Amino acid sequence: MSTATRPLALITGGSSGIGFELAAQLADRGYDVAISGQSERVHDSAKKLEEYGVEAYPYQADASTYDGVESFWKFVAELDRPLNVACLNVGIGVGGRFLDTDLDDELRMISINCSGTVHMAKRVVRAMHAQGADWGERRIMIVSSVSATTPTPYEPAYGATKAFGFNFAESIREELREEGIVVTALLPGATDSDFHANAGMGNTRFGDNSWKNDRTEVARQGIEALLAGDDHVVGGDEATKQQVVDHRSMSEPEKAARQGAAARPTS
Ligand SMILES: NC(=O)c1ccc[n+]([C@@H]2O[C@H](COP(=O)([O-])OP(=O)(O)OC[C@H]3O[C@@H](n4cnc5c(N)ncnc54)[C@H](OP(=O)(O)O)[C@@H]3O)[C@@H](O)[C@H]2O)c1
Repeated sequence: MSTATRPLALITGGSSGIGFELAAQLADRGYDVAISGQSERVHDSAKKLEEYGVEAYPYQADASTYDGVESFWKFVAELDRPLNVACLNVGIGVGGRFLDTDLDDELRMISINCSGTVHMAKRVVRAMHAQGADWGERRIMIVSSVSATTPTPYEPAYGATKAFGFNFAESIREELREEGIVVTALLPGATDSDFHANAGMGNTRFGDNSWKNDRTEVARQGIEALLAGDDHVVGGDEATKQQVVDHRSMSEPEKAARQGAAARPTS
């Protein structure tokens, strides 16, 4: 297949972690991929994705700002190609006691995880609507979290941003159903990436990556659910999936106590 015939996918935060693995899953299935990242490594990541025999388009921008989100969208729009898949994955965490955490860090996280997701979704949904069904599938993934299903003490605003993403995904899915645009939420459990270290949670149970879900497997489950048209999928092993089942029958204080014990800083 050539660039003209290969489908195109956009992945925000596709330079590393779960986002890179989502991009790799798509590249392995023959999609050209446009990826964003905050640091220069997005360019090296694109080179690695091209080893799958597809085109990879890297873009470096700060997803916490309106201009950063908008400029990545314009970069993709200027490729002047139908957009078949969009994975709205970029997200950060802020760990620690709410009493102690920095307000600016939390507001920045809300900008990336909530405002940025709505911003990019608006551009993608309108573009996919205008594109119509003639250019193939139109699928959107919103990366939420198992944290959407429980209070998250010691990262309280983070869990709330992920509940926002899950609710938003299920809502626009219903609106877009008749349009033929599919929306799927991916809810990863704790996953081996730089996420918790970047969130300042190295001094919690989440600081150790060895027990967490494998990011390649989480991404594989996410892409399979997206391509199957599922409304959501919990990404991870059986214990992770059982955790979400358990959350349905537990009270909020019970869940808060369990989650708080794991995320509480040890020093
Ligand atoms: N890891 C987990 O345990 C876990 C669990 C549930 C849900 N999730 C969700 O999964 C998603 C991906 O997380 P991850 O674990 O892959 O995290 P990660 O390893 O920290 O990767 C984050 C990605 O986002 C990019 N990024 C971060 N801040 C950015 C900014 N301001 N502007 C542009 N790009 C930025 C990074 O770019 P650079 O490479 O340039 O830094 C990187 O590509 C997030 O939405 C997270 O909430 C993660």
